[in-house]
Amino acid sequence: MNPRIKDWRGQRVWVIGASSGIGAETARALLARGAKLAISARNQEGLQIIADDHHDTLILPLDITDHAALIKARDRIVSSWGGIDLVLVVAGTYNRMRADNFDLAIAEKMVATNLNGPLHCLDAVLPTLLAQGKGGIGIVASIAGLSGLPQALIYGPTKAALINLCESLYLDLRPRGIGVYLIDPGFVATPLTASNEFAMPALISAEDAAVELLRGIEHGEFHIHFPKRFTNWLRLLRLLPYSLYFWLIHKVTGL
Ligand SMILES: NC(=O)c1ccc[n+]([C@@H]2O[C@H](COP(=O)([O-])OP(=O)(O)OC[C@H]3O[C@@H](n4cnc5c(N)ncnc54)[C@H](OP(=O)(O)O)[C@@H]3O)[C@@H](O)[C@H]2O)c1
Repeated sequence: MNPRIKDWRGQRVWVIGASSGIGAETARALLARGAKLAISARNQEGLQIIADDHHDTLILPLDITDHAALIKARDRIVSSWGGIDLVLVVAGTYNRMRADNFDLAIAEKMVATNLNGPLHCLDAVLPTLLAQGKGGIGIVASIAGLSGLPQALIYGPTKAALINLCESLYLDLRPRGIGVYLIDPGFVATPLTASNEFAMPALISAEDAAVELLRGIEHGEFHIHFPKRFTNWLRLLRLLPYSLYFWLIHKVTGL
C-alpha cells in the first residue's frame, strides 16, 4: 500500500519522540541500518545517548506541544539535508483515567501531546513532503485507539483520532506519491507502561517493537500493528455488536 524501503542506508529520517522506549529503539535500529537521522524529544541527554558515536545525527530537542519549535527543527533539517524521506511521530504520553477520577487538566495535557502534537508535526512537514512529491510519514497511535477500553478514558480517544487522521491522510497523500503509515502497538515494555499494575497481555520489548515497526515500513504496509497475537484479537473485538463487546471487556478485564 506504500512504497517499500529495501535499503535504509542514506534515508533521511526524523524521529520525534526518540529519547526513550519505542522511539529510542527505532532510532537505534535505524542508525544501525545506516539511515541518516534527526531525533527530537524534550530530554536532550536521552537523545545524545542515542546518537552516541553517530556524529552526523541532528539532535533537535523540542516539546511537541510547541509549534514554533517544530517549525524551527524542520527548517534546520531541510537546510541540512535538502529534504526528508521519512518522519516518524512517536511521541506520546499516557495517564490512566476512568470516569470516577476524571481530571480535565490531565486530559487536556494528553490531548495536547498525543493529538495536537502530531498536528504540529503535520503542519511542519506536509509542505516539504508535498513539494517533494515523495517521502513518508508514520504516526504511532495505539491498538487502544480501536475501541473504548477501561483506564483509557482520554488516552484512547487521542489514539482513535490519530487512527482516523492516518486513514484520511493516506487517501490524500498516497495519490501524491507520499507514504502514510499507521502504527498501532499493543503492550510494549517502556517507561510509559512501567507503572501499569495489571498483567499486560503479549507484552513485548521496545527492541522488538522497533523491529516490527521498521519491518512494516520496509514491506510498505499501511496498518502496522504488533504483536499480532494480541492486536488481531482487538481488531476482531471491534467488529462485535456493542452488547457482546462490553460484556467481553468487563469479563476479561474485571473492570
Ligand atoms: N508502550 C506501549 O505499550 C504503547 C502501546 C501503544 C502505543 N504506544 C505509543 O508509543 C509511543 C511511544 O511510547 P513509549 O511506550 O515508547 O513511551 P516512552 O518511553 O515514554 O516514550 C515516549 C516518547 O515521547 C516523548 N515525548 C513525550 N511527551 C513529549 C513532548 N511533549 N514533546 C516531545 N516529546 C515527547 C518522550 O520524550 P521526552 O519525555 O524526552 O520528551 C519519549 O521519547 C507513544 O505515542 C505511545 O502512546 C505505546
